[in-house]
Amino acid sequence: MAGRIPSTFIDELLSRIDIIDVIDTRVPLTKKGREFQACCPFHHEKTPSFTVSPVKQFYHCFGCGAHGTAIGFLMEYENMPFPEAVEDLAAKAGIEVPHEEESEKPRENLAPLFHLMTQAGEWYQQQLKSHPQAHSAVDYLKERGLSGEIAARYQLGFAPEGWSHLHEKIGQDEQTTAQLTRTGMLIQKDHGGHYDRFRNRIIFPIHDSRGRIIGFGGRVLGDEKPKYLNSPESPLFHKGKELYGLYQARKSSRTLTQILVVEGYMDVVALAQYGIRYCVATLGTATTSDHLYQLFRSVNRVIFCFDGDRAGRDAARKAMDTAIPLMRDGREILFMFLPDGEDPDSLVRKEGTQHFEQRVTQATPLSHYFFTQLQEQTDPHTIDGRAKLVALARPKLSRLPAGMFREMMFKQLSTLVEIEADTISSHLLEPTEQQPPFPRTAQPKPQQASRNTSPSPVRIALSTLLHHPQLIRLITETTYLKQIDTPGVTLLNEVIETLHQSPNLSTAALLERWRGREDESLLHKVARWTPDIPEEGIEKEFTGAMQKLKSLHQEQQTDQLLRQSSQRALSADEKRQLQQLLSSS
Ligand code: UTP
Ligand code: MN
Repeated sequence: MAGRIPSTFIDELLSRIDIIDVIDTRVPLTKKGREFQACCPFHHEKTPSFTVSPVKQFYHCFGCGAHGTAIGFLMEYENMPFPEAVEDLAAKAGIEVPHEEESEKPRENLAPLFHLMTQAGEWYQQQLKSHPQAHSAVDYLKERGLSGEIAARYQLGFAPEGWSHLHEKIGQDEQTTAQLTRTGMLIQKDHGGHYDRFRNRIIFPIHDSRGRIIGFGGRVLGDEKPKYLNSPESPLFHKGKELYGLYQARKSSRTLTQILVVEGYMDVVALAQYGIRYCVATLGTATTSDHLYQLFRSVNRVIFCFDGDRAGRDAARKAMDTAIPLMRDGREILFMFLPDGEDPDSLVRKEGTQHFEQRVTQATPLSHYFFTQLQEQTDPHTIDGRAKLVALARPKLSRLPAGMFREMMFKQLSTLVEIEADTISSHLLEPTEQQPPFPRTAQPKPQQASRNTSPSPVRIALSTLLHHPQLIRLITETTYLKQIDTPGVTLLNEVIETLHQSPNLSTAALLERWRGREDESLLHKVARWTPDIPEEGIEKEFTGAMQKLKSLHQEQQTDQLLRQSSQRALSADEKRQLQQLLSSS
C-alpha cells in the first residue's frame, strides 16, 4: 500500500485548486456577494443555504450543517475515499501525489517481485510453445476455439506437470525462494521445502492497469477439481481490486466507451476471440467499489453480465447496492442476464458476435432494474404494498449522490406509488433516527447547542481564527495561553502553533491538517459555527476574545497563588507576582 500523503502536499493541493470549480461542475453555483450559493446537495431544500467561500476554500450549509473542504466535498458527494479524492484533485491540477514512507514499516521495494512475475509469465508462455507435453494444452485451447493471436494477446501459458520446474527455472537461492513464496508462486511445505503452486494447468496472467503481471489463474485441462487455481493475496495482488482483462481492454482501443463485466477468465478470452474486446472479469469475487472506481476511471458505461438463474440475480442485486453510491450524473450501469445454462463464452459461440452485442445494447439500465426487482418483492396495487416499496427503496435511494439521476429516480418512485414527487423526496432525504442518509456531515440545527449559553472566548477565538487565519498576525504572545485551564484551549493552542509555522494556510488547509486526528470533530464543530458578526467587526471580536482569555489567565493565576499561600509560605517571586495580579485586576 502507498504510504501516508504528507500534509504539506495537501496544503499545496488546496492552494492550487479552486473549490468553486470543484463544486460548480457538480452543483451549479450562483455568485452572491463574495460567496457562492446553491440549494444544498446534502439535504432537500427550496431556497439556497449552501454557501461556498472562495477565500476560505470551504463550503457550509446553514440548513443541515454540512461543511468541509474541496476534498471533503468529493468524499461526501462522490462517495470517494480520502486517497481517491486527493488523487482526483491532483490529477486535475496536474500534480503527482507523493507518499510518505510509513515510519515503522518502511515501504517495500516491489520491483524485484514484479520482475519475478514477469519471468514466470514469460516462462509459462514459452512452455505453451515448446514443452514436450504442451500439445495437450494447445489442443485444449484449440478445442475451445481460441486462436494463437488471442493466446498471445492474453499471454496465455502452460505450467507443466511437476513440483519444482518454476522454482528451478527462476532460482532456488534463499532470497528468490522467499520472494517467490511472497508472490504465492511457491507454496511452503509444513516440514520444510517448497513446491510450485501451478502444475499441469493453462495459465492466465493477471495484469495491473500498467500492464505488469501481479498474479495468475490456472485452469485444469480436464474435469478435475478445483477447476481454477488463483494466486493468493500478496503484496502485488488484491483480488477485490483487480479485474482480469482490463489492461488488454484499454490497450485494444483508445476510445473505449463501455466495459462488459463477466465472471470468468474463459469468458473474457472467448469474447475477445469474437472481436468483443471490452470485457473484464472479476476474479471469483463479488463486485467491489474498488472495482467500480477502476472501471469508471476508464469509461462511463459499465454493463454487468450475469447468469439468468437465482445466483445471478442475487449477484446483480449485490452489484447494484455497491454501485448506487457511485451513480453520479453521466455514469451508467446496466445489467444483462443470460439465458439459463449459458455463460458468455458458450453464448457467443452459439449466437455469434452480432447477436451477442445486440444483447449488450439491450441491457437493462440500473434505474429500471432497481424498480423491477422492488416490484417483484411488493404489490404496488395495494396501499400496504406501495408503502413497503417506499420502505425498501428509501435506504438505497438515499445513498444516491445528488444530481439529475437522483431526481429522476425519485420521480419514478413517486409515479409508481402515486405520491407527489416533492413529498417523496423530502421523505427520502429526511434523516431518520436509525439511519441518517449523510451521517458524516449532516448535523440538524447545528446552532441549537449554543443557543442558551453565550459562546466561550475560546470558542470565539477558535472560530474566528479558523475562518480568518490571517488573524494569526495579531498573536505574538502565547505563554499565558499554555497555562490556562479551560475547555478547548489545547485545540486553540495547536491551531495557533500550526498557523505560526505556516501562516498562509487557508481555512480548508487548516481543517485538512486535522483529518483523522482525535480532536478532528471538535474542530469541525467550531468550523460549523460562525459568530454572527459583520466582516469589519471580526478583528475586534477576535482581540476581545483573546483579551478575555488573558483576564481568565490572570484570575486563575491569582486563585492559584492565593490557594498556595494558605498552604505554605510564598517565595519572594510569587509574592511579587501576586501583588501585581491583585493590583491589575
Ligand atoms: P466458471 O466456472 O464460470 O468458469 O467460474 P469459466 O470461466 O466459465 O471457465 P470454463 O468455461 O469452465 O473453462 C467463473 C470464475 O470463477 C472463478 C474463476 O475466476 C473463474 O473464471 N473460479 C471458478 C475459481 O476461482 N475457482 C474455481 O474452481 C472455479
Ligand atoms: Mn465457461
